[in-house]
Amino acid sequence: MTEAILLVGGKGTRLRPLTVNTPKPMVPAAGVPFLTHQLARARAAGVDHIVLATSYLSEVFEPHFGDGSSLGLSLEYVTEDEPLGTGGAIRNVAQRLRSGPDDPVLIFNGDILTGLDIRGLIDTHTTSGADVSLHLTRVTDPRAFGLVPTDDSGRVTAFLEKPQTPEEIVTDQINAGAYVFRRSIIDAIPTGRPVSVERETFPDLLLAGAHLQGIVDSTYWLDLGTPQAFVRGSADLVLGRAPSPAVPGRCGDRLVLESASVAPDAKLTGGTVVCEGAVIHSGARIDGSVILAGAVVEENAVITSSLIGVGAKVGARVALTGAVIGDGAVVGADNELRDGVRVWCDATLPPGAVRFSSDQ
Ligand code: GTP
Repeated sequence: MTEAILLVGGKGTRLRPLTVNTPKPMVPAAGVPFLTHQLARARAAGVDHIVLATSYLSEVFEPHFGDGSSLGLSLEYVTEDEPLGTGGAIRNVAQRLRSGPDDPVLIFNGDILTGLDIRGLIDTHTTSGADVSLHLTRVTDPRAFGLVPTDDSGRVTAFLEKPQTPEEIVTDQINAGAYVFRRSIIDAIPTGRPVSVERETFPDLLLAGAHLQGIVDSTYWLDLGTPQAFVRGSADLVLGRAPSPAVPGRCGDRLVLESASVAPDAKLTGGTVVCEGAVIHSGARIDGSVILAGAVVEENAVITSSLIGVGAKVGARVALTGAVIGDGAVVGADNELRDGVRVWCDATLPPGAVRFSSDQ
């Protein structure tokens, strides 16, 4: 038996307004709540018992996934009254674990899309005899991440959170948000107060002489914490670049869910997904984007690398690039929105209100 803890209680502030009504792991990527992909990948790697550590908007998880049997899993839910941080959340679910003190327990951040060889991570953890093993990935700009340098044998030598100066950037290896803990290490995390594994548990373990093993795996990896990354991750799932057994259809240039309606001359490319009940009108061109349930895209709108929220409306000839339109928002005809703009849930933009170019 292999069991896992999934951390899904964060507020997802970087992803707002997508996370105003929906916790980050439940925002649909490639047509299903993002968490479905993680659960399906864990199941495929032989994990059978998963405890979800919830906090923010905790009430939406269980009605959707139930006891997990439809995914071949046994799922349990534990909710924090007050957010306990990543380490506190892990400790808070310990009583639900069935593993013995020396058994390996997998832990995943709920916002990572990766092709990581989960079985390989557990196997290396077991053969190295580590107390904690961490999946590490290499990035070109590590400033937004926690750096994890290792020695020749892969043993972690330091934890450096969000380095800023060039001297602090001593490695391109970052904490990729998947761990294997020896069960007894989880039980030793302090209870009843917020704890960060990244800032407290890992550095303290290192100081105490524990064996922390880094495992560099350079397959597909993306932190879906920002709107741009989320849209990219969904498109990569649809295109088949990011592996998941849970994509509801054949991978390809586009994914249109059954009850959606797409005009015959609308053009969908680059891994665009159109969710349940959404309507795409004639002449629309949509590339690498996410159109959530019940959204409407009117005639000749051009949408690139953007996300359209649940029930939102994009008017005729609107041009969107790198935009997020919140649930229920209305973008009137002939607007032009770009470069990370976020239109809040239920906001209304009158026709022609915002342009980047001088023409209409
Ligand atoms: P931002 O607010 O945008 O930084 O997102 P976030 O709240 O998700 O924080 P972050 O990306 O650092 O969290 C990493 C993972 O830990 C995510 O899967 C979160 O859902 C989860 N997480 C963060 N804080 C908590 C918490 O207090 N409790 C629980 N249960 N999970 C948490």
